[in-house]
Amino acid sequence: MSFKIAYLDHTQEMSGGEIYLLNLLKFLDKDQFSPVVILPCSGSLEIYLKELGIPVSIISASQRAIQLGKHQGMGNILSEMKSILSLAFTIGKIVRYLKREKVSLVHTNSIKANFYGSLAAKLAGKPVIWQLHDILTADFFSSFFGRLLTIWANFFDNVIICNSNATKKAFIECGGRTNKAIKIHNGIDISRFNIKNHRRSAFKKELCLPKDAPLVGHIGRLAPWKGQHLFIEAASRILVDLPKTNFVLVGEALFGDIDLNYRKSLQTLIAKLGLKNKVRLVGFRKDIPNIIAALDIVVHSSVAPEPFGLVIAEAMAMGKPIVAARAGGIPEIVQDGIMGLLFEPGNSSALAEAILAILKDKERASVMGEAGRQRIERFFTAEGNAKQVENIYSRLLDRK
Ligand code: GLC
Repeated sequence: MSFKIAYLDHTQEMSGGEIYLLNLLKFLDKDQFSPVVILPCSGSLEIYLKELGIPVSIISASQRAIQLGKHQGMGNILSEMKSILSLAFTIGKIVRYLKREKVSLVHTNSIKANFYGSLAAKLAGKPVIWQLHDILTADFFSSFFGRLLTIWANFFDNVIICNSNATKKAFIECGGRTNKAIKIHNGIDISRFNIKNHRRSAFKKELCLPKDAPLVGHIGRLAPWKGQHLFIEAASRILVDLPKTNFVLVGEALFGDIDLNYRKSLQTLIAKLGLKNKVRLVGFRKDIPNIIAALDIVVHSSVAPEPFGLVIAEAMAMGKPIVAARAGGIPEIVQDGIMGLLFEPGNSSALAEAILAILKDKERASVMGEAGRQRIERFFTAEGNAKQVENIYSRLLDRK
């Protein structure tokens, strides 16, 4: 007999949390568990899930419900009230679905889904697991919001899966109960991120770069906290020493005006530093393994602590040395000096020095890359992650 597990996410945009969900569902033992993903509207995530053969159920929520909390100020109290009503209506629909479809357990996969999903699960009498992809520090959330989230978390009979020790620590420091939080590191689909299946030259050819030109890449959605501006500043410094180096920023502005304005500011910075031929912005790409294959170093320059950092693990799986900010979950993945170099967050000169050190020592770069590949295969596979999550499912279901 297999248990039906309902996964809830509030968005269709493919950021890290949604990639995590795809990895988990790809490797979930379908003999034991049959998944269904409940989403508020149609979009990209739904398409990827269907490609994997995972059933999706759209339980429509109005934009109003999804935007709850976005209208600030007294004048918008009416707007918030309407949002709450609309959300209550959606929760009612989810409760009916969970009962009708005899779902055994609910696994919520985003902060908003953690909120409304746990209430729906409780009303339907189902156990719930929260996936926590976010670090509850002042860099991302107000202390009021962090506290509200942990009070909510403590109220339900649930387990909180944190994607790193850093995420777990922040959750507990915010008031979350220690005995609820479990760290399970994210994992990578290593069959997809296998260097043997990709040609190093393909992406370089697309950029019209010579085969032997060094190429350094930053992959991630464009957002101020992801710190792409530091990468551009570092590029300017590196080119003084190694003028043949090229740089690429892969990723798009996904979440609203702040990110869109940040994209513009990056373009302005590139122009101001005279780097138009040296630093390219290529936008969102599906063929990340193909791109990583062409890179000499993969950089991560977040100015706020990165909860996990999937792309770092993906790059390591492909044998690439890493240069990343020493914060959040990153030091749990990359051992400084062994798989790459870590630098002080926010310091673009330190970032430039770290990149230069690796670019100038090819032997060390390849030793680091190999060490990274082995570490991911041992500790950070999606299969391994799915096994650990399945153990939690079994524990909760047995208890029931
Ligand atoms: C979020 C986090 C990121 C993490 C991903 C998957 O996008 O910001 O650090 O890798 O979720 O857990």
